[in-house]
Amino acid sequence: MTAKRSQKIGVLDSGVGGLTVVRAMQQLLPGEDVIYFGDSANVPYGNKDRSEILALMNKILDFMEENEVKAIAVACNTLSTLYDVYAPARKTKIFSIVEAGAGRVLEDKLPEVGIVATDFTIKTGWYAKLIHEKDPSVKVYGAGNHMLATILDHGRFDEVPENLKQNLADLWKQGRPDHIILGCTHYPIVKDQFEEQAPGVTFIDPAFEMAKNMKKWLEENDLLRRKKTHHLDIFTSGDPAYYGELCRRLKIQKPDSLSQKSL
Ligand code: DGL
Repeated sequence: MTAKRSQKIGVLDSGVGGLTVVRAMQQLLPGEDVIYFGDSANVPYGNKDRSEILALMNKILDFMEENEVKAIAVACNTLSTLYDVYAPARKTKIFSIVEAGAGRVLEDKLPEVGIVATDFTIKTGWYAKLIHEKDPSVKVYGAGNHMLATILDHGRFDEVPENLKQNLADLWKQGRPDHIILGCTHYPIVKDQFEEQAPGVTFIDPAFEMAKNMKKWLEENDLLRRKKTHHLDIFTSGDPAYYGELCRRLKIQKPDSLSQKSL
């Protein structure tokens, strides 16, 4: 099926984290209508095994394709590490956030970089793989965090400082990079707190790179919508009210609809 300019863009995540990608898209692609799905009933994906994650992912991709989106942004690092497994079987163009984050390291020619992400993302070594395919000299350090996505998806913000302290200490056992990728889309929600705990470190949020990659593809395929406003429809298997609250916290335009939808 040929994509049409008027179609929406699908953005998906295990939970609220992908809203950080919606925020970047609203800045760079303000004319694109977005349909979002966050699977908060099943968060965290990063502590599940591969087959369980893939089964959930295929249901979300089916939902997006039923809605006839022109492209899908996988705004979840954990899911993006399995891109090669699900993407070739789909008819819709799919963007990976890990590819976006790795691309930024290469573009900036960073000699070393740290990754904080879910245990699953770190164990796959996917960031290191994508970076080393292009530049094997980059030193990549990674520290998994099995709690932070859940903490943020459940709004337990008082637990954040202690969690970040431990996560950064785990990373610093390996090296002291000047740049750290927030390799889980939930983490930019508390980017300011990462910065407070690691003065002098630049924290990279791959969301903006992802929006840039999408813009380039939309332009190249004559699919970019140049209008100034857009619709945002949010679906979640969790609590829609919390998504509304986070949109306000992230200064995302008020969603046109907030609905509950089980997978
Ligand atoms: N936002 C997801 C990611 O980027 C969170 C993962 C999870 O559900 O554990 O990896």
